[in-house]
Amino acid sequence: GTRPPLREVAGVPLPATTVDNWSQIQGFEAQPDDLLICTYPKSGTTWIQEIVDMIEQGGDVERCQRVTIQHRHPFLEWARPPQPSGVDRAAAMPSPRVLRTHLPTQLLPPSFWENNCKFLYVARNAKDCMVSYFHFQRMNQTLPDPGTWEEYFETSVSGKVAWGSWFEHVKGWWEIRKKFQVLFLFYEDIKRNPKQEIQKVMQFMGKNLDGPVLDRIVQETSFEKMKANPMTNHSSAPKWILDQSISPFMRKGTVGDWKNHFTVAQKERFDEIYKQKMEGTSIHFCTEL
Ligand code: A3P
Repeated sequence: GTRPPLREVAGVPLPATTVDNWSQIQGFEAQPDDLLICTYPKSGTTWIQEIVDMIEQGGDVERCQRVTIQHRHPFLEWARPPQPSGVDRAAAMPSPRVLRTHLPTQLLPPSFWENNCKFLYVARNAKDCMVSYFHFQRMNQTLPDPGTWEEYFETSVSGKVAWGSWFEHVKGWWEIRKKFQVLFLFYEDIKRNPKQEIQKVMQFMGKNLDGPVLDRIVQETSFEKMKANPMTNHSSAPKWILDQSISPFMRKGTVGDWKNHFTVAQKERFDEIYKQKMEGTSIHFCTEL
């Protein structure tokens, strides 16, 4: 079928269905005990969702596996009638709620700030994000066709992808992290030291789990486990949304796959753009020099 073009809100490209539902999304009524998982697309959203869920359920695998990951934590931007929208799903949920968004700070429904909610932000290095997003757009039939890698590289550096520029997204959330209750994590850190990072999430959620439970959460949220788990690998998503015969949702789950995609020229150009765009921020990715 044909892929619908993105539409912009305040200069940020978004799926047209999200823009159609924009007034409902902006009017979202957050509650003080909401926890919002915030990510730029392809930064490890599904991974952190499963971690949060396992913590909530005290490491009880069976309880986490009753519902697919898409339905456990409503996605605010989801708006595809006749399915209930993400906002509708959230409204029907008991507190305390865990919700999910890819929105940059300037587009977040204001009630999240007004209620001083908790925000769990996961950032992933820009190059791996771009590669992951390229493969995701190939298989996600609701997003524009990415074209060739060379074409996609240009689209991506110009910020003309759904949810906008990686740079603006990461900088925006980094800048507000001290004014609000933000736990700011890095994909690369979770990969390198999952137990330590999971412990940070646990503390942020006000939970206290013992060592063996944490070890179990580390095991159950590994890439291999989540790839094999039908509740987390998005295998239940219909083919008209995610066509996993093109590229699996659980693709590689590694750090540094960009090296298999970027040409030397692209790497040099990207590093130059990165330096300009990130100038003046104190954020540091372990993958950047
Ligand atoms: P790759 O395409 O590089 O493999 P999101 O959930 O935000 O859409 O992010 C998806 C990316 O996170 C994919 O990256 C996916 O493989 C990776 N991912 C999902 N679960 C993971 C896990 N348990 N460990 C490491 N990476 C994971």
